[in-house]
Amino acid sequence: MTFHQIFPEIVYQARINDYELIKEKFASKIINRYKASSDEKAPWATLCNTWQVNADEQINQLFTDYFQEHVYAWFKEFCFPRVDFKVASWVNVHTWESYQETHYHMGDHCILCGTYNLQLNKKDSSLIFINEVPDYQDVLCQENIKAEHHSLKDDSRKILDITEGDLILFPPHQKHCVPCASEKHDGYRITISFNVCKRYE
Ligand SMILES: [Fe+2]
Repeated sequence: MTFHQIFPEIVYQARINDYELIKEKFASKIINRYKASSDEKAPWATLCNTWQVNADEQINQLFTDYFQEHVYAWFKEFCFPRVDFKVASWVNVHTWESYQETHYHMGDHCILCGTYNLQLNKKDSSLIFINEVPDYQDVLCQENIKAEHHSLKDDSRKILDITEGDLILFPPHQKHCVPCASEKHDGYRITISFNVCKRYE
């Protein structure tokens, strides 16, 4: 007897060993930039509640030094042919009350997305993935059957434990959001996000 889970949504989680070093090197620089130009926003982020700006050269280097090998691990897992790609990275800063509404990263030839948790207070929410195919759980709910299988959850909160130093990879169509922190605090939630886009030129 076999249960086949067909067409699952896949996300990837990896701890970056140098996460303390990365935080020490970048957290205060990012917060200083945020404080000096809190009105600055990437052109595509004008309606976003959080502070999002395009990454500078030093932050772009993080992709090459730490994240790229994980992107190749994804390509290998999914048996991609050799893909020529470029990377667009940006920085996200949240105060305790900041949030990101549910969205995805489709477009611009994006084939894979990532987010690195550079600074995450215990009161901050991590990234939450939304289950977009809730049909079976709806059926069970209507019949008052409480099933606990991970494929029947509304979202990833009870499946993924994301902490500071974790890199998360996910496909562009996978909807996700970030709620505000569970309690008021004075710290800043900092993440580095990126889209891996197929290069044509
Ligand atoms: Fe996103």
